[in-house]
Amino acid sequence: MTASLHPTSATTPPGSVAPVVPIVIVGCGGFGREVQDVVEAMNTGCIQFDLLGYVDDAPSQDNLERVARRRARVIGDLAWLEQAPADVQYVIGIGSPAVKARIAARLGDRPSPVLVHPGATVGGDVELGPGTIVCAGSVLTTNVRVGRHVHVNLLCSVGHDVVIGDHVSINPLVAVSGDVTIGGGVMLGTHSAILQGLSIGDDAVVGGAALVTRNVLAGVVVKGVPAA
Ligand SMILES: CC(C)(COP(=O)(O)OP(=O)(O)OC[C@H]1O[C@@H](n2cnc3c(N)ncnc32)[C@H](O)[C@@H]1OP(=O)(O)O)[C@@H](O)C(=O)NCCC(=O)NCCS
Repeated sequence: MTASLHPTSATTPPGSVAPVVPIVIVGCGGFGREVQDVVEAMNTGCIQFDLLGYVDDAPSQDNLERVARRRARVIGDLAWLEQAPADVQYVIGIGSPAVKARIAARLGDRPSPVLVHPGATVGGDVELGPGTIVCAGSVLTTNVRVGRHVHVNLLCSVGHDVVIGDHVSINPLVAVSGDVTIGGGVMLGTHSAILQGLSIGDDAVVGGAALVTRNVLAGVVVKGVPAA
């Protein structure tokens, strides 16, 4: 995990201007284009990123048109990104944890910045791993540890002392209570809530609107109230 809220803060000497980071978004579907919103919001006032465009192995015609309406473009496929100059960074705009894990493995040690929408709130001693994206309206409180390529979608809350593994996707309006541990590859469905102190095993899925009142084993799908 990396303790960084800024893509270049670790390498920029005090007093100097941080370089603009060339970046591409992997996937031009719905969430990918929402990630463009995060990049553009972060660029307001001070340009941090040069958004080169999207890479997508199979963009639909509809999505190509939507990207064009965002004044962006699809510049190639994942193979293009594999061959791109080493300073080109990436974020994954695809919600599936399994797909995120595959893409990150394929891209190896290519750097990936942390994106935090300025309309999100991140408290003290919060570590966000490379490629993690925090969308508008979400709140992470204190002493939180978040892995690589985690998505905290719109309007989520993540409480104190929570630990979140790699490639987790937390869909809109999820509430993760304090002291919860979430394994790698987990998907938390929209509007779900996890009560305090519980563990969610690797690759588990929590259905939309579920209320999790007990630990969830690895690889299990739970749904409903209480979730089972
Ligand atoms: C739970 C989930 C992962 C799918 O699980 P699944 O076991 O594959 O579910 P299926 O679609 O096969 O449906 C099986 C049954 O569960 C029900 N079901 C599906 N999701 C449910 C949910 N979240 N809560 C309660 N019941 C649910 C279905 O209605 C169906 O009921 P039936 O057998 O009586 O017809 C999925 O429905 C879900 O909730 N995903 C969250 C998606 C999300 O967050 N989207 C936002 C994207 S930004």
